[in-house]
Amino acid sequence: MIPLRNARYLSQSLLEGFVREGDTCVDATLGNGHDCLRLCQMVGETGLVHGFDVQEGAIQNTEDRLREAGMLGRARLHLCSHAEMERFISPGVRVVLFNLGWLPGGDHGVTTRAESTLPAMEAALRLLQGGGRLLVTIYPGHEEGLRELRALRAFAGGLDIRRFNALFCEFPNQGSEAPRLLAVEKA
Ligand SMILES: C[S@@+](CC[C@H](N)C(=O)[O-])C[C@H]1O[C@@H](n2cnc3c(N)ncnc32)[C@H](O)[C@@H]1O
Repeated sequence: MIPLRNARYLSQSLLEGFVREGDTCVDATLGNGHDCLRLCQMVGETGLVHGFDVQEGAIQNTEDRLREAGMLGRARLHLCSHAEMERFISPGVRVVLFNLGWLPGGDHGVTTRAESTLPAMEAALRLLQGGGRLLVTIYPGHEEGLRELRALRAFAGGLDIRRFNALFCEFPNQGSEAPRLLAVEKA
């Protein structure tokens, strides 16, 4: 049963039971490290999570959170743009997770932008294993987020149907600014 509460919750639900012990996953937007911790718990002792963020504070927050949970050894944290993820990761990834926007409680000027988000999506799809998933929560309640929403809708619409299944979710009674979810599964 997957409750249809909101886009972020749906993204998390699509991870539950999908990520397995020993998997390699990517958290493309570390922020405060909540998602990264969840992924580290799912991949277990034999798995690995690569995390990316352009802010030193996000890397530090995530590192502290993982250390406290005794899971720092399951993660490799990279202080650079997710558009560069192929420099560090080989193909065969189970899940690439994006939670777009800015660091909660941080500088709203440092936000994800379509110019780097789109190349990062393309890299993520190249890295996924067959059956692997790309999950993207999009926040259109600000100017950059709205640009990302439009760009990602077009991106998803252009994916080759023989290679990818794409799902775009919105919650129409939550208002026009409510987060959306893009989920892509590689054939
Ligand atoms: C909404 S937050 C992520 C929240 C996080 N998933 C969590 O569980 O706390 C978005 C993050 O994306 C980061 N970001 C912005 N541009 C980026 C880029 N090009 N590459 C990687 N991270 C980026 C921001 O610094 C911010 O920390």
